[in-house]
Amino acid sequence: MTASTAATANGTTSSAGNAPAQADRTINFRIKRCDGPGKPSRWETFAVPVGRGANVISCLQQIAARPVTTEGTRTTPVVWDANCLEEVCGACTMVINGKVRQSCSALIDTIAPREGDTVSLEPMTKFPIIRDLWVDRARIFDNLKRVKAWVPIDGTYALGPGPRESADSQTTRYILSTCMTCGCCMEACPQFLIAENEHEWETAFIGAQAISQARLFNMHGTGKQLKGDRLDALMGPGGITDCGNAQNCVQVCPKEIPLTESIGVIGRAATVHAIASWFSGR
Ligand code: SF4
Ligand code: SF4
Ligand code: FES
Repeated sequence: MTASTAATANGTTSSAGNAPAQADRTINFRIKRCDGPGKPSRWETFAVPVGRGANVISCLQQIAARPVTTEGTRTTPVVWDANCLEEVCGACTMVINGKVRQSCSALIDTIAPREGDTVSLEPMTKFPIIRDLWVDRARIFDNLKRVKAWVPIDGTYALGPGPRESADSQTTRYILSTCMTCGCCMEACPQFLIAENEHEWETAFIGAQAISQARLFNMHGTGKQLKGDRLDALMGPGGITDCGNAQNCVQVCPKEIPLTESIGVIGRAATVHAIASWFSGR
């Protein structure tokens, strides 16, 4: 969902171009703009009246309704992506005041509490730009395909009850399953480099998120059928050995997923898998 539909879904602005009813201060948004792939970037600044409880998305909605810069120049509405508006889908991720995070949960009272404060907004840099703050996160989903991050279920007939899951396994898997493919961990990772197309994605470092999801599905009673395939993929180009252990990923994950623990678990599993493969002559 892009800017125009987000404005309707949230409804936090009273009407097009109007300030929120209880605006008590004006803050500035310095936004990195780009008209499309391959186009040059530029900065534009907008003054936005805000009240208690405003978030970055509601301010972007105001800017979309009245796209006039602080110099008085009328410009195009800023484009961004959003969907759930409750930090679940990951679509609204951007770099806010230099830190990658979700714009729907970025409260203005926290990041710009005083009159005249400035908030900077930039798109993530590790994914191809679509326009302004909107990037193409398809790379994340392609990386999940590289590690077969799914439970294989063949056929439409009744399969009967699956294998029993222990409470400990469920507890561990639950936190891993809260990943919202937002891209924060990849944006912050020094080893995860910009790659523009699917051909480059195939061999570039896969990132902590896909490694952690491989762990999630390897622990699943049915999902573990593909464990060997996942470990083979993670032992290949762009796999786990490309991780430099800088640990930026775990520090920025909004869901506090233990990403470096997952990297350690998968690293040990890959070693065991490699030895087993060597002995079995595979
Ligand atoms: S530990 Fe460092 S290099 Fe490895 S995935 Fe996390 S941020 Fe990237
Ligand atoms: S692991 Fe965390 S930071 Fe990375 S994509 Fe998932 S939720 Fe986002
Ligand atoms: S809109 Fe879904 S996480 Fe922000």
